[in-house]
Amino acid sequence: METPGCAEVVHLDNAGAALPPAVVTDTVMAHLRAEALHGGYRAAAEAAPRLAMVRASIAALLNADSRDIALADSATRAWQAVFYALPFEPGDRILTCRAEYASNVIAYLQVAERTGARVEVVGDDADGQLDVKDLRRRIDERVRLIAITHVPTQGGLINPAEEVGKIAEDAGVPFLLDACQSAGQLDLDVERLCCDALSAPGRKYLRGPRGTGFLYVRPRLRERLKPAVLDLHSATWTAPNQYQVQETAQMFETWESNVAAVLGRVSKDHV
Ligand SMILES: Cc1ncc(COP(=O)(O)O)c(C=O)c1O
Repeated sequence: METPGCAEVVHLDNAGAALPPAVVTDTVMAHLRAEALHGGYRAAAEAAPRLAMVRASIAALLNADSRDIALADSATRAWQAVFYALPFEPGDRILTCRAEYASNVIAYLQVAERTGARVEVVGDDADGQLDVKDLRRRIDERVRLIAITHVPTQGGLINPAEEVGKIAEDAGVPFLLDACQSAGQLDLDVERLCCDALSAPGRKYLRGPRGTGFLYVRPRLRERLKPAVLDLHSATWTAPNQYQVQETAQMFETWESNVAAVLGRVSKDHV
């Protein structure tokens, strides 16, 4: 049976954490065994080609380039990596949706408190989706970010991400899309969605292991961002008083990671 858990339960919680197929669990366990036998560094070195495929498979899922994908240990970490790298000043406006994820709202409020930026919630239309007319009305030169959740945690709502992306693109405002419930469930093409950044977890509709997530960041946005935190993986220490930030989305990653869980994101065709 492809998904052993299906023999045990009727599982309707993919929006929380899906049952992984056997290939995911087998991949994770095989790597943990390799770590136990050869040590974590050698096991990671031996898995390097497959680790590169993880990034490539996420890029293919999103119609993006591998260099624009950062691996993270959760969708929230991925989202935060880009959000906390955006510069805000007093009076700047952040536009979001009513059905936003609580962690994202907390981050907006914290950054608003620190910087004097304002958070505004765009209204809903008669169907409960973000009202694109209201969004269009609110655009002005002080809008610095449009950030919404595509498919909220509960309720089955699908926000009109493509239309929001077009409005953001026309206004020259970065568009950050939380694709937690849409990744693996809806077709996501970052070009069609016109999104500058997108975050998602591994464990929901992609049926990967827990403790995995990823971030897409468009190069033109990345060039303007300064990651809030850096380490020797996201940057290189080039001289006693100098460092160089990575040019790819690796600038949002950290060196240490759960390699077994990351490998679990590789699809069956790759193992
Ligand atoms: C819309 C949305 N955003 C973000 C998250 C957070 O994802 P993670 O727990 O991987 O950080 C969730 C998780 O339920 C979610 O539903």
